[in-house]
Amino acid sequence: MTATIVGAQLGDEGKGGIVDVYGDDADVVVRYQGGDNAGHTVVHEGTEYKLSLVPSGAVRGKVNVLGNGCVVNPRTLFDEIDALRERGVDPDVRVARRAHVIFPYHRVLDGIEEEAKSETGDEVGTTGRGIGPTYEDKAGRRGLRIGDLTDPDVLRKRLEYVVPIKRTLAEEVYGVDVEEKRETGSPSPNDGADGVGPAFDVDALHGAYREYGERLVREDMLVDAGDFLTDRIDDGANVMFEGAQGTIIDIDHGNYPYVTSSNPTAGGASTGTGLAPDVVGDGDVIGIVKAYLTRVGSGPMPTELGGVPGDTPGYDGDPENPETASEELAHRIREAGNEYGTVTGRPRRVGWLDIPMLRHAARASGFTGLAVNHIDTLAGLDEVTVGHSYTLDGEAVRTIPPTTERWAECEPNLRTFEGWPEFDGSEAAEAGYEALPENARAYLEYLEDELDTPVYAVGVGPARTETVVRHSPF
Ligand code: GDP
Ligand code: IMO
Ligand code: MG
Repeated sequence: MTATIVGAQLGDEGKGGIVDVYGDDADVVVRYQGGDNAGHTVVHEGTEYKLSLVPSGAVRGKVNVLGNGCVVNPRTLFDEIDALRERGVDPDVRVARRAHVIFPYHRVLDGIEEEAKSETGDEVGTTGRGIGPTYEDKAGRRGLRIGDLTDPDVLRKRLEYVVPIKRTLAEEVYGVDVEEKRETGSPSPNDGADGVGPAFDVDALHGAYREYGERLVREDMLVDAGDFLTDRIDDGANVMFEGAQGTIIDIDHGNYPYVTSSNPTAGGASTGTGLAPDVVGDGDVIGIVKAYLTRVGSGPMPTELGGVPGDTPGYDGDPENPETASEELAHRIREAGNEYGTVTGRPRRVGWLDIPMLRHAARASGFTGLAVNHIDTLAGLDEVTVGHSYTLDGEAVRTIPPTTERWAECEPNLRTFEGWPEFDGSEAAEAGYEALPENARAYLEYLEDELDTPVYAVGVGPARTETVVRHSPF
């Protein structure tokens, strides 16, 4: 049996927590896309773990797989594994030989391109982890796969082809002095100072990445993801696909170009693991919804309440010192929900729930169930509002228009619900769904109706014990 966890919005919906809640009954947890751009928070036995690459199942002693659809920075991988070991967790992590490798030059180029775009205010606000440049090389057939790290000759041959191209791109197109970067460092912690060596030097890269390959072999981490997972499923294992990011930053279904470079939507669980679509479709596909909306980075957000300078187009206020009533609300929700980046600590943009966005997400992934998080964060407000539809060119629109420019022109048609009082999350989780405040249930039932999908779980606090579970996918 499988279950797929997909972010329904713009990332940070609380996917890590839901993977953890359902993880008890999962035997294998698989990431199928993205890399260390994710930031998943898991609270287990009172301890908080922040993971960016290793699947959330790691803290619960599950088998964890990074599928072929992932881009893997080996340094992050081993740093996370080592850090977990220091905390007494010994994660079992397998990596697909077909996954692509993030090299230091990808991270440097990510920074260079963002910098160039920022001159016209067009930067995406990436995480700087080299995600886009690595997928670009994958599609351009000049990438290196994890399996290539274990063959020193292949590794050298491929690096000798690609590194001069990257160096020329940096120097000739962007006018960046790569040699200077070597001396002064760069946005990438992988560049120079930590023993990996200069980002654009074939010999240095070969030496360091060959060693990563040796460690992957030594620790018996390499798999053919499709075969490995098929064997597990044939043996009766429950497999959970842990999506990273979210539908609206999906490269195909998101608001291009303000997207990540992979497919967080459910189709990615098939292409990113080597399992057939019906294997994914046989199980539940659970859309993770935050009860309001947050966004990291640039791009439209029709239901935005309060901005973040540099991310919200045209906004130069101070999120910590709200001036208007809606900024005040955004500030209150940001504080109550701890809406600061898991990895970067930067404040997230905050807005009301966007229902056209969720209709689009439910269709793109075929949600069979929803997990709605942060119902506690909205508690205590007099009223809770959603963007029920948009008005575009004078017409009511029920889903997101395909171009980002048109989406930015959408005016939300708001619908207001009565608020609900504060309540004890652990008690509510214990007592079950019916014990939730009536107005909170009305809000959840509105969502069920609009998306024609049942609510499987409700997040009422950050801890594992603070989730109301109505239905389990396994
Ligand atoms: P992910 O990237 O989707 O896994 O989500 P993040 O971990 O980046 O962000 C979610 C944040 O919200 C984390 O700090 C979680 O601990 C927290 N969180 C998740 N669900 C809930 C909830 O229902 N209530 C509250 N108050 N916090 C939650
Ligand atoms: P989790 O899994 C929220 C955003 C970045 C940027 C865009 C592209 O924690 O939900 P990238 O570095 O991927 O090329 O950046 O995507 N982004 C995320 N936003 N949560 C995430 O992951 C994100 N991963 C990437 O902020 O706007
Ligand atoms: Mg996150």
